[in-house]
Amino acid sequence: ALVSMVELLDKAQKGKYAVGAFNCNNMEIVQAIVAAAEAEKAPVIIQASQGAIKYAGIEYITTLTKLAAEKASVPIALHLDHGTSFAQVMQCARHGFSSVMIDGSKHPLEDNIALTNKVIEAVRHLGISVEAELGKIGGTEDDITVSEREALFTDPEEAEYFVQKTQVDALAIAIGTAHGQYKGTPKLDFDRLTQIRERVSTPLVLHGSSGVPEDALREAISRGVCKVNIDTNIREAFVFAARQALEGNPKEIDPRKMLGPAREAATKIIQEKIRIFGSVGKA
Ligand code: G3H
Ligand code: 13P
Ligand code: ZN
Repeated sequence: ALVSMVELLDKAQKGKYAVGAFNCNNMEIVQAIVAAAEAEKAPVIIQASQGAIKYAGIEYITTLTKLAAEKASVPIALHLDHGTSFAQVMQCARHGFSSVMIDGSKHPLEDNIALTNKVIEAVRHLGISVEAELGKIGGTEDDITVSEREALFTDPEEAEYFVQKTQVDALAIAIGTAHGQYKGTPKLDFDRLTQIRERVSTPLVLHGSSGVPEDALREAISRGVCKVNIDTNIREAFVFAARQALEGNPKEIDPRKMLGPAREAATKIIQEKIRIFGSVGKA
């Protein structure tokens, strides 16, 4: 069933587990997310980025994901990932997303607060939940040093202020993760996470979670993260399986022989993540 994200995250926060938020770009990945959630009897968040919407088209993304959510026996939220403009958020609201992220992290603090509040005022009365970002998460490919990245981490006092001013439903924080494939092993600032949690009761979101070691994910969840975003690990599994299928049979011309194994590989990695997040059986 299609549900609001707040409902899923409130339960997760009380139960000390995290809900997996998995990025989709096409039918096979939507099906993989739902199949994994059903197999593990887990609540799940299907999210689409602006890039995914541009690739597939908003009608295709919302039709596929809404169908998946409505047919599923587990609760599913449909979430816009890293929305950066008010117009984009409103387009998703009109098309039936149950949740949106407005990522104003590149703006100065007061502008981020104003943009977040503008979105909240426009969509909360529709039952749509809102995630914001404070601190800059960035990408693994950003050409910056460790200390330059640390300077972009979320400040706990600022987090308290941000939440007081916005009453946002979920807050993405920068504590050492980045989007994409890591070169080494990411080191998370757990003390900072705990300091944020002590000041803020809002559900906290960990982005850039692909490639974060299992024990670090568990530690982050035990310290209060209750939404964990995964994209890159799905891409890796999907493309690796598709490539293997093609290389194993270079004369193959049936796309299903490539996309079927890719979908299965994506399902498997998503199930593994759901188990790490502790959301098995929480549907
Ligand atoms: O946060 C970024 C997600 O992995 C989505 O990436 O913008 O390439 O779709 P994308
Ligand atoms: P990864 O691609 O690093 O898993 O990050 C996903 C994410 O944070 C989507 O918002
Ligand atoms: Zn992200």
